[in-house]
Amino acid sequence: MLSYRHAFHAGNHADVIKHLTLALTLEYYLRKDKPFWYIDTHAGSGFYRLGSTEAQKNREFATGIQQLWEQACIPEQLAAYLNLVRLANPAGKLEHYPGSPWIAAQMLRKTDQLHLFELHPADFQALNSLPGKGKRIHIQQTDGLKGLHSLLPPPPRRAITLIDPSYELKTDYSAVVETLTKAHKRFDSGTYLLWYPVVSRQRVQQMLHDLQASGIPDIVQIEFCPLQDSNNMGMTGSGMFVINPPWLLAQQMREILPWLAEHMSTSTGAAHYTVQQISPEKNRG
Ligand SMILES: C[S@@+](CC[C@H](N)C(=O)[O-])C[C@H]1O[C@@H](n2cnc3c(N)ncnc32)[C@H](O)[C@@H]1O
Repeated sequence: MLSYRHAFHAGNHADVIKHLTLALTLEYYLRKDKPFWYIDTHAGSGFYRLGSTEAQKNREFATGIQQLWEQACIPEQLAAYLNLVRLANPAGKLEHYPGSPWIAAQMLRKTDQLHLFELHPADFQALNSLPGKGKRIHIQQTDGLKGLHSLLPPPPRRAITLIDPSYELKTDYSAVVETLTKAHKRFDSGTYLLWYPVVSRQRVQQMLHDLQASGIPDIVQIEFCPLQDSNNMGMTGSGMFVINPPWLLAQQMREILPWLAEHMSTSTGAAHYTVQQISPEKNRG
């Protein structure tokens, strides 16, 4: 089933949290002068025009990136992410929104590699025009959850994997945890970023429980919800489960989420957020 198109949602509050977490993680990996791989199991088309019919349908970006774009004073934790959004909009007007592959393609060095999976034929085609496509960018039109295993362990022994499904199928919630458990067995030192929507609090709690039961250590949960939980309002928030997070990430998110709650909230006082360690930290030595 491929009815989901990210173009309808580009730049919404969930993209902000996901891409902020991604940019901070990439920034951390780039501090070391050693190559790494970026793996995106559900890449999307890579770049979005906010004037498109799809993006204009519900204008989700208006309660996401647009609220940050209009701020005169931005906290430093947001700088890398917002600089990328500015780079995607060279005319100085918010007209485009960069997807996760575009963000990674901009940040990674010549020695790093991108491995991208996208099933939808139109999004796969668009992804193929990603700037800088060549030796370091590899794109496959196959199932990203299966494809991930074929890449692990990555030869440089350093990798960030983003798992960002559309959760069209209820089974996606358990499939991602199974995939992560298997991936972690093959390669336990990589950083894995698993995005999830808050559509039903029970589902999120079940995922959290399943991840804890998997025995994978060092998982941090980061969540931001502009709206109160509700089972009949669609997506009221979103979050990331981060396995082997950069050591500064939880602190950076704890610092920035209160600011985001103030500046990216749709109804006063409803925004809520969490940053918590859900499985024991490894001894970082
Ligand atoms: C939420 S979007 C990805 C957004 C992107 N990661 C970003 O942050 O810019 C999910 C994408 O996964 C694609 N997709 C769905 N099932 C897939 C699968 N099994 N393998 C690879 N791609 C899949 C969809 O076509 C859609 O473009």
